[in-house]
Amino acid sequence: MGFSALIVAAGSGERAGGGLPKQYRAIAGKPLLRWTAEAFARHPGCEEIVIAIHPDHRAHFESAMAGLNVRAVEGGADRTASVRACLNAANFEHVLIHDGARPLVGEALIDRLLSALQTSPGAAPALPVTDALVRQDGDGVQAVDRAGLQRMQTPQAFRADAIRAAFEATEAAFPDEVSLARAAGLEVALVAGEEANIKITWPEDFARAERLLAPAPSPALTVTGTGYDVHRVRPGKGLTLCGVFIDHPLELVGHSDADVGLHALTDAILGAAGAGDIGQHFPPTDPQWKGADSAQFLVHALKLAREAGVEPVHADITLICEAPKIGPHREAMKRRVAELTGLPPVRVNIKATTSEKLGFTGRGEGIAAQAAFTGRIS
Ligand code: CTP
Ligand code: MG
Repeated sequence: MGFSALIVAAGSGERAGGGLPKQYRAIAGKPLLRWTAEAFARHPGCEEIVIAIHPDHRAHFESAMAGLNVRAVEGGADRTASVRACLNAANFEHVLIHDGARPLVGEALIDRLLSALQTSPGAAPALPVTDALVRQDGDGVQAVDRAGLQRMQTPQAFRADAIRAAFEATEAAFPDEVSLARAAGLEVALVAGEEANIKITWPEDFARAERLLAPAPSPALTVTGTGYDVHRVRPGKGLTLCGVFIDHPLELVGHSDADVGLHALTDAILGAAGAGDIGQHFPPTDPQWKGADSAQFLVHALKLAREAGVEPVHADITLICEAPKIGPHREAMKRRVAELTGLPPVRVNIKATTSEKLGFTGRGEGIAAQAAFTGRIS
């Protein structure tokens, strides 16, 4: 069923306050009235969109509606006059008359109205009153029976000839078209309204509409990298593992300080950042890394990760050796890795295992380490 969308937007938005008239203020990056017009433009039955605007708002209108196929007509001194101006410009058999200040009108509501129009000359959305009602008069309040009372929304839908005849029969102003139609004896069917279909009226309504219209943030992406490293050991004056010096009759052999724990973690971070491996960034042939503190490799990898949008979430390192014993140094290693990565200590885990005297680690020829690094891209 093809219809004309008639949107009234010629009011001054007194109650909403703010500099710009409310229908042109941005909600979630778009002018309010544009959200409203787009809600109709998306509907397959919408043949044309006619919008009543205030003559002083022409420039706001042009910039808010750029690229949308809509027509402006000059609104009137009250809402009924603005609707009348739209009706005079409408070309289709059915009209949906809507407040410009209701940007959240849904497709399902439009569908309900169109199907009700097949059997009734008018149809409008209504919601039951759930709060208790009273009338305040003078000093007192009188209870009002809410049975049967409904809150009316827009769009209010009509056969164009029927609502035109109702407008011709009166010169009075009405709060909405249902009241005007009923005054002319026109039958109006009620369909279920939508709680979200609010009319932006007060300043605080903008924040509510913003929450409802803003696109949901895309979920954070989790990335993981793994790393593995091995260095030889020989008799010596102690070794550095996971950034902690251990006084021990062995030493690690390598170009840098040969801290396998930090090397494995550095590779894991580079993995999560999609930034290659440690050898590409710190070639063992480069003399400047001779005896280097491996902490600087790790810090550089973290910088690359951050540049790639990856924020550290968790680090897990496994040291594989028969000696030295890792247990007594585990807490110090955890604190050092936390300090280097900026992670809280609970997000750093240090594990150790022997390899049951098997293989090169089992024979004490070298120490191996593996690491997993988890990051978040938000
Ligand atoms: N409207 C209109 N012409 C008028 C008065 C109102 O087209 N002379 C429109 C408003 O632009 C709004 C809708 O009717 O989209 C509902 O009116 P309301 O929410 O009362 O808006 P305003 O009249 O602009 O606001 P206020 O009453 O706070 O000044
Ligand atoms: Mg008003």
